[in-house]
Amino acid sequence: MKDLIGIKELSRQDIEEILNTAKAFKEVLQRDIKKVPTLRGKTAINLFFEPSTRTRTSFELAEKRLSLDVLNFSVSTSSVVKGETLYDTLKTIEAYNVDYIVIRHPCSGAAKFVANHTPACVINAGDGTNEHPTQALLDAFSILEIKGRLDGLKIAIVGDIIHSRVARSNLYLLSKFDTEIRFVGPPTVVPGYAPDNVKIFYDLKEGIKDSDVIMLLRIQLERQNAAFIPSLKEYFHVWGVKKDVFSYIKDDAIIMHPGPMNRGVEISTEVADSSRSIILRQVTNGIATRMAVIYLLTPREA
Ligand code: CP
Repeated sequence: MKDLIGIKELSRQDIEEILNTAKAFKEVLQRDIKKVPTLRGKTAINLFFEPSTRTRTSFELAEKRLSLDVLNFSVSTSSVVKGETLYDTLKTIEAYNVDYIVIRHPCSGAAKFVANHTPACVINAGDGTNEHPTQALLDAFSILEIKGRLDGLKIAIVGDIIHSRVARSNLYLLSKFDTEIRFVGPPTVVPGYAPDNVKIFYDLKEGIKDSDVIMLLRIQLERQNAAFIPSLKEYFHVWGVKKDVFSYIKDDAIIMHPGPMNRGVEISTEVADSSRSIILRQVTNGIATRMAVIYLLTPREA
């Protein structure tokens, strides 16, 4: 494939190939090998039109570990603020013969638009509420590392699902395996309908008590043009995952969060920093997973 725009268009076999390649890269990195010469002489640009901590830094590290030359495009200091269109920004970048474009954009479909207009490989680092495919891949990689499988697991996705591109990509990915997916949250932020393999819970305890994986989501206020929850304080009171959950969740249940997290809203500090939390492992696994994605893409001949 030339691009990774979404999980939706990947097969189970594609996903397994990416995860196996990520495993191999993680093993290389664990041998304290800082760089592999695989993509020496090629160039990547990270085009982030929205803020990012984890995705941007781990893409940059992944690119550097693959020996790519890396350009970071800062929207706030670019001519985008003077009204330059996405198309013209793309064509400008293309004039430098860039081989890989990583893009995060507030508009759903922006990554696909860019991919359709360039011979470079395009990786979607999050487009609006549509998809965040590398997050779902690193989440699956992290689950596999701990549980040894995806098939047969019950996975609860808790919180602001309707505004979450992470939830959407995870739904697509986990649905390609034999998993039971649970959407857990208040009715205002959980879809009212779901595919057959998804169960909906409007009660936190019911939704997570026998789940193997509990994946928490931030309330994405930046994507809400109306009040979907009464207040963050009330949300924490009713839906926040606090240390009391340890009295009823499975002993080997793991707690995940794609970040950035809001402590005291969807998660308490005791849970975020507990031994059940694999949040920082997810961050670490972002590098090997993104190396695998970049490595497996094939640029179109110009
Ligand atoms: N998970 C995630 O996309 O985090 P950032 O917004 O910090 O990149």
